[in-house]
Amino acid sequence: MHHFQYRDGRLYCEDVPVEHIAQEVGTPCYIYSHATLRHHFTVFDQAFAQLPHLTCYSVKANSNLSILRLFASLGAGVDIVSGGELFRARQAGIASERIVYSGVGKTQEEIDYALSEDILMFNIESSQELDAISQRAAALGRRARIALRVNPDVDPKTHPYITTGMEKNKFGVTMDEAVESYSRAARLPSVDVVGVDCHIGSQLTDVQPFVDALKRLRTLVARLAEIGIHIRFLDLGGGLGITYDRETPPHPTEYAQAIVHELEGLHCTVIFEPGRVIVGNAGILLTKVLYTKKTPKKHFVIVDAGMNDLIRPSLYGSYHHIQSVVSTDRPTDTVDVVGPICESGDFLARERALPQVEPGEYLAVMSAGAYGFTMASNYNSRPKAAEVLVRGDAAHVIRVRETWEDLVRAERIPEFLR
Ligand code: LLP
Repeated sequence: MHHFQYRDGRLYCEDVPVEHIAQEVGTPCYIYSHATLRHHFTVFDQAFAQLPHLTCYSVKANSNLSILRLFASLGAGVDIVSGGELFRARQAGIASERIVYSGVGKTQEEIDYALSEDILMFNIESSQELDAISQRAAALGRRARIALRVNPDVDPKTHPYITTGMEKNKFGVTMDEAVESYSRAARLPSVDVVGVDCHIGSQLTDVQPFVDALKRLRTLVARLAEIGIHIRFLDLGGGLGITYDRETPPHPTEYAQAIVHELEGLHCTVIFEPGRVIVGNAGILLTKVLYTKKTPKKHFVIVDAGMNDLIRPSLYGSYHHIQSVVSTDRPTDTVDVVGPICESGDFLARERALPQVEPGEYLAVMSAGAYGFTMASNYNSRPKAAEVLVRGDAAHVIRVRETWEDLVRAERIPEFLR
């Protein structure tokens, strides 16, 4: 369910025609619906109401301060993977005791920052990282609450780039290694072992891999209890998919039913790390048609958003639905929707049936709320797009469009070149 719908032939975000935003703010721009964000977070969180749990929204999916702030107001925690994400989360008012920190390459600077903020838990991904965190906690006179991220080796049947819990992936420690590492961690004076963590992948469209991972985690929790290590937090990472095209992912309540049963008798607070399922369908990328052209082989629609604004189609071959912001009964053409970047891999859609469009008209690239702006770059020296949050009949710019000045602000020309 989302709040991007046609009324009298015009695409609205909540009560605002998206064309008005294009005219006010320019294109390309990301537009998010406040009501949709709220609804998605609440539905997910409520699905687990019967369990002691903490929903830690995954900042990497969409890290805009206003969006984090909205989730903070709804009682969210966050899952972070860098010092930068921690900084954003704290700026947005997310309480430290609701922050979990994953990632295979935490630097000393990042570890020190997270220790000084006294976050809920580090999800540790290797034996060397355990030592590093233990040493820094001792040096700073702190205790680090930790979980080990175990690799449950289950196949989530998603895109290989976003599969994270198989043996060939770089994440976590193997199940075999885990008990040994836990007993070592338990002997470290500056470390408090509080959790078990896993993450199996993103855009999952079936609940079974979650259930399989959970079964393996339960076995581990039981083995740890036998050696006197009592786990308080079970962090079940793995992202529910959304509908981009024809996927039929489980609803959060279906997911909840499947796992609640597996959690019976376990006295832990369960942590979830959803990103895409909360924000994915709550945002669109609005773009303007610049030109159209026909070659003997292809029909191109050239728009003002490129792979630097939304890289998912180029990087993963991902499908994003593209629709006109004014409904039309013009005949359709089979087109490639491409951006201005100087690479043939710069496309938003290929071989797509679209109603004919003219230069100056606007297109909405749907389901762009997750991993859209956060993966944007300045490639081809293109300023990053503006971001707009719509609430009811008001549109708020929550990130201004970058300028050409912004592009060179951090650069310095050394004396010898002046
Ligand atoms: N927690 C951890 C440790 C993760 O690695 C991820 C995603 C999440 C949570 C959030 O997963 P979600 O609920 O969004 O599925 N750029 C890719 C997605 C990469 C996801 C990587 N990890 C894309 O555009 O599809």
